[in-house]
Amino acid sequence: MFLVTGATGGIGRRVVRLLRERDEQVRAFVRLTSRYGELEHRGANIFIGDLRQEKDIEKACQGVQYIISAHGSDGDALSLDYRANIELIDQAKAHGVQHFVFISVLGADRGYEDAPVFKAKRAVERYLETSGLNYTILRPAGLASNLLSLAERFRETGVYLLIGDPKNRTSIVSTDDLARIVVDSVTVEAARNRILPVGGPEILSREDIPKIFSHIFNKEPIVINSPLFAVDALRGALGFFNPQAQKSLGTFRTLLANEFFCTHEEVAQLESIFNFEMETLESFLRRYLAV
Ligand SMILES: NC(=O)c1ccc[n+]([C@@H]2O[C@H](COP(=O)([O-])OP(=O)(O)OC[C@H]3O[C@@H](n4cnc5c(N)ncnc54)[C@H](OP(=O)(O)O)[C@@H]3O)[C@@H](O)[C@H]2O)c1
Repeated sequence: MFLVTGATGGIGRRVVRLLRERDEQVRAFVRLTSRYGELEHRGANIFIGDLRQEKDIEKACQGVQYIISAHGSDGDALSLDYRANIELIDQAKAHGVQHFVFISVLGADRGYEDAPVFKAKRAVERYLETSGLNYTILRPAGLASNLLSLAERFRETGVYLLIGDPKNRTSIVSTDDLARIVVDSVTVEAARNRILPVGGPEILSREDIPKIFSHIFNKEPIVINSPLFAVDALRGALGFFNPQAQKSLGTFRTLLANEFFCTHEEVAQLESIFNFEMETLESFLRRYLAV
C-alpha cells in the first residue's frame, strides 16, 4: 500500500494515476474540501484528514509500505512543509515503511534565509537522511503543469507577465515525467538513498517561455516585464496587516530572483537512472492544450 500526501495536487494527482494504472494499492490523503472524485474513480482508497493534525497522519500511516510526500504548504511552511513531514517520517519508522519519497525543491541546499519553504525542505531532507529509512529525495525545478493556466490566458490575450530578470535560467520539468520518477524511485536501485535534482531537458531563459507559447499558438507575445521591486513593495505593504503572507512572499520572491536549472549532466544522469527520455516544455504543453 502506498500513502500519497498532496494527492489532489499537480504532482500527487499524477502519482496516484500512475500507481493505479500499475494496479498498486493507494491511500490518497485528502482534505474534505479537496477535489478527490477522480482519485476515487480510479480506485484509490480515500483517507480524509488534515496534515496539520498528528493523529490524522498517524492513522493514515497504518499498514502502508511506501510513503510519497507530495503535499504543498498552503502558506504555512512550518506546519505543513516541516512538521507534517517530520511526523510522516516518524510514523514511517514506527510502521517499518520500506521506502519514503520526499518532494523537496531545487535549491533547498542554498541557504536562502528569507524563504521558509526552502528552509523547511532542507531541514526535512536532513531528518530523512539520518532516519534509517530507505529514501529518495527529489528536488524539482518548476513544474510544467504550473504553466498551463498561463498558456490558456496567453491563448486568449497574447499577454505574458514576466516578473524579474528575463535572462534568469530555469529547467521546467514535465509534471508527468516527475510523477514517473517519483513512482519508480521506490523500485529503482540507483535511486535509493539519493538526493536527485529533477529538471527538464532544456535550460531555458524565462523569456523563452512566452516564445514557446507564441510558437504553439502562432501568436505574437505581448510581454509585460515587471521589476522585482514591485514584489518588494507589495511585501512591505503586507507586513503591516498580514505578516504570514509577507513571509510566504519571501519564498515567492526567492523563486523569482534566482536561477533554478539542472545541468545537462544532471538530466543525463536522471535519464540513465530511470531509463527514459525527459520531455520538453513544448511537448508537455502541446499534449495538454491539444495543439
Ligand atoms: N509547483 C512547483 O513548481 C514545485 C516545484 C518544486 C517543488 N515543488 C514541491 O512539490 C510539492 C507538490 O507541489 P504541487 O505543485 O504538486 O502542489 P499543489 O498542486 O499546490 O498541491 C498541494 C497539495 O497539498 C494538499 N494540502 C495542502 N494543505 C494540506 C493540508 N493541511 N492537509 C492535507 N493536504 C493538504 C493540497 O490539498 P487540497 O487539494 O485540499 O488543496 C494539494 O493536494 C510541494 O511540496 C512543492 O513544494 C513544487
